[in-house]
Amino acid sequence: MDMCGGLSPQVSFDALLSTGYASDVTDIATKPSATPEPGKGPVVQRLFGAISKRYDLANHIFSGGLDFLWRRRAAKIVHSWAPKRVLDMATGSGDLALAIAKKCPNATIVGADFCQPMLDLARRKGLTNLVLADALNLPFATGEFDVVTVAFGLRNMENWERALAEMARVLRTGGHLLVLDFSVPRAPLRGLYRLYLHRIVPFLAGLLTGERGAYEYLGASIEEFPQGEAMNQLIARAGFDETQSQPLTGGIVTLYTARRL
Ligand SMILES: C[S@@+](CC[C@H](N)C(=O)[O-])C[C@H]1O[C@@H](n2cnc3c(N)ncnc32)[C@H](O)[C@@H]1O
Repeated sequence: MDMCGGLSPQVSFDALLSTGYASDVTDIATKPSATPEPGKGPVVQRLFGAISKRYDLANHIFSGGLDFLWRRRAAKIVHSWAPKRVLDMATGSGDLALAIAKKCPNATIVGADFCQPMLDLARRKGLTNLVLADALNLPFATGEFDVVTVAFGLRNMENWERALAEMARVLRTGGHLLVLDFSVPRAPLRGLYRLYLHRIVPFLAGLLTGERGAYEYLGASIEEFPQGEAMNQLIARAGFDETQSQPLTGGIVTLYTARRL
């Protein structure tokens, strides 16, 4: 049984694309940043259910293996905070949670996601503390965690402010947030990157996963997502200070850290 919603993927992706997640490169490039529209959650749930079987392979191929390095860098930062309890939000197939578990063997790592097929993958890789939960309404007590991480997940959430506020709520005072997500690099890499992201990835991923629409959505969502100082401010408004952003690999991804007030 598919645990991720009831819409047919193709209809859902098309609907998503037609309501602002345009697939045209020039259209996307000029779009202003905006929080995703209401109703996006079930579509995203369904999308990840549809691509879950090929998710890891597609990740590793399209990032050229760099995703391992990005998560390892994130895990190293988490280790420097010496946490006892870590929540990896939008844990998906669990790769960041596993990297953190390796770096912090004495910490309890909880992985949460709202897509059961993705959690099933994480479980098969050996993660045990897995919770089916929506980031916008977390089933955890206030101040329960020392660190909350979210890799390539916040961008997909229906309401970034609300998701960050929930992450702040479940963090103890002085606890740390780490957000890792795609960003758009500066020129001269930008043009080439956009060609890769909007043309090459959807074409190849369509062949690999049979879900080209999911990867057209990926490019559109990256263009819409705030980055750099705009993301620092979004995080600060949710109740954090010491916000820092660190572009990696020429700005293809950015790592954000902050401390819960
Ligand atoms: C691109 S995957 C990232 C998975 C993993 N963190 C990684 O680094 O590979 C995005 C994940 O976010 C999850 N997600 C998106 N919105 C969510 C929400 N509102 N609540 C919980 N999980 C969500 C999806 O189900 C999916 O597993």
